Amino acid sequence: MSRVLTNIVLASIGGMGIALLGGCEPGPKQSTQVGYRGAGLDQIVDVRHMVKTAAIPPAPYPLPADGGPTAGQTYQNVKVLGGVSAERFNHLMAEINQWVAPPEQGCAYCHNPANMASDEKYTKIVARRMIQMTQTINSQWSPHVQNVGVTCYTCHRGNAVPTNKWAMPGAQNPNSIRGNRYGMNELSADAAYSDLPTTGFGDYLAGAKNIRVNAHTALPVGRMTGASVQTAEKTYGLMMHMSKALGVNCTFCHNTQAFASWSQSRPQRVTAWYGIRMVRDVNNTYISSLASVFPAYRKGPQGDPYKVNCTTCHQGQNKPLGGVSMIDQAPALKGPLVMAAAPAVAPAAAGAVKPLAMNGPQAAIVKK
Ligand code: HEC
Ligand code: HEC
Ligand code: HEC
Ligand code: HEC
Repeated sequence: MSRVLTNIVLASIGGMGIALLGGCEPGPKQSTQVGYRGAGLDQIVDVRHMVKTAAIPPAPYPLPADGGPTAGQTYQNVKVLGGVSAERFNHLMAEINQWVAPPEQGCAYCHNPANMASDEKYTKIVARRMIQMTQTINSQWSPHVQNVGVTCYTCHRGNAVPTNKWAMPGAQNPNSIRGNRYGMNELSADAAYSDLPTTGFGDYLAGAKNIRVNAHTALPVGRMTGASVQTAEKTYGLMMHMSKALGVNCTFCHNTQAFASWSQSRPQRVTAWYGIRMVRDVNNTYISSLASVFPAYRKGPQGDPYKVNCTTCHQGQNKPLGGVSMIDQAPALKGPLVMAAAPAVAPAAAGAVKPLAMNGPQAAIVKK
């Protein structure tokens, strides 16, 4: 009798074990060693979850030769691209049309067809700012985007509003039995479905708070040096987002025996460091400045426009669009060098764009 009972108990324990292991995602894995052997720097990917088909951009229109009268000479109200030849300007309009405007509206999404020079549609004002923003990304943030660069398509992928974006979360209901959850336990894709807070976007991708877990002094100095429990939770939330956005493990950037150490990190961590600063610049200098231009229905619950995070461009790939560069299709988006009547765009202060502790091994990483 007791043998039977034991067998039943053992069988149910076995069953539970299988049920628990179910959460461990069985199935084919692909493992790539990306660092020194024995250091655990491996990328382990569930091949079934790999991005199967990268978005296929629309076929480009043939780029006309440069030269001839400029857009500024030809048209009435060209404020950013005045120095671009009219031929290339028209070409860019056609590309923007494919990359951003809903096909059923076409040019009319931004223009009054009876008066192309008019700025009456808010979408045109937004698009003008987005042209400047794209130029800044390509000309000022090459430590992140390299020569690959970005176009409107990198974020928009044929949609008027990019699929991946964020805004400040709505106020929590103070009478809720669960209290203020500070963006935790919300099951949000923004923290890769962990229960970590998603409010870190506001602190780190619009604000410039320190992204820290380790205290850098033995004892608290004055106010805490940015390593409180809350800071640590938000930092991990952001790290989950970054990993998910790029479709990688933590070891794509870190040596997990010393997360904070730059000298033991992979060069990709430095690229990511610049990426965080680039995203702040994009969100603060460009998108937030459009708050009064966007209609209320296009804004988040707190009235701020939707902003950019790592997923906006990367969409699950460590190189957006699988590393395909589209920038030669739109040379005018390469940067202010080709602009004639360029309005003052504050260039990212060169001095501010450096990882902390740029000396020692860190400097060597940057050179790679
Ligand atoms: C996503 C918005 C958007 C779409 C779609 C778009 N444009 Fe434009 N267009 C702009 C912006 C912004 C400017 C002003 C650029 C500047 O100030 O440098 C402009 C300016 C122009 C001008 C100059 C008008 C003038 O006299 O000042 C022409 C011509 C033009 N666009 C043609 C087109 C055509 C043709 C299409 C469709 C194939 C098109 N645009 C689609 C945003 C758009
Ligand atoms: C780094 C990512 C990024 C790039 C690059 C980018 N955009 Fe955007 N764009 C956004 C985000 C995010 C929004 C949504 C803002 C919102 O809804 O509050 C947006 C909104 C817009 C809108 C408003 C759409 C609407 O219906 O309200 C237009 C028009 C637009 N972008 C045009 C462009 C053009 C033209 C380019 C290329 C010159 C471009 N964008 C490049 C991120 C980007
Ligand atoms: C794409 C690169 C990248 C990935 C992937 C990544 N990190 Fe990070 N991590 C960074 C960068 C860059 C910083 C420094 C940010 C800063 O100072 O602005 C950082 C900082 C940290 C810190 C803070 C160290 C300190 O100084 O206190 C910890 C801890 C950390 N990451 C853990 C993780 C974990 C855990 C994962 C996986 C869930 C992860 N990271 C994934 C790039 C990455
Ligand atoms: C405006 C679009 C855009 C945004 C937003 C963006 N990236 Fe990137 N990222 C790029 C481009 C373009 C490259 C260069 C890809 C290449 O070399 O083909 C790149 C490259 C990288 C690489 C190097 C990948 C490799 O395989 O070497 C890392 C790491 C990275 N990004 C992290 C981030 C992180 C973290 C964020 C968010 C804080 C972010 N990126 C936001 C466009 C973007």
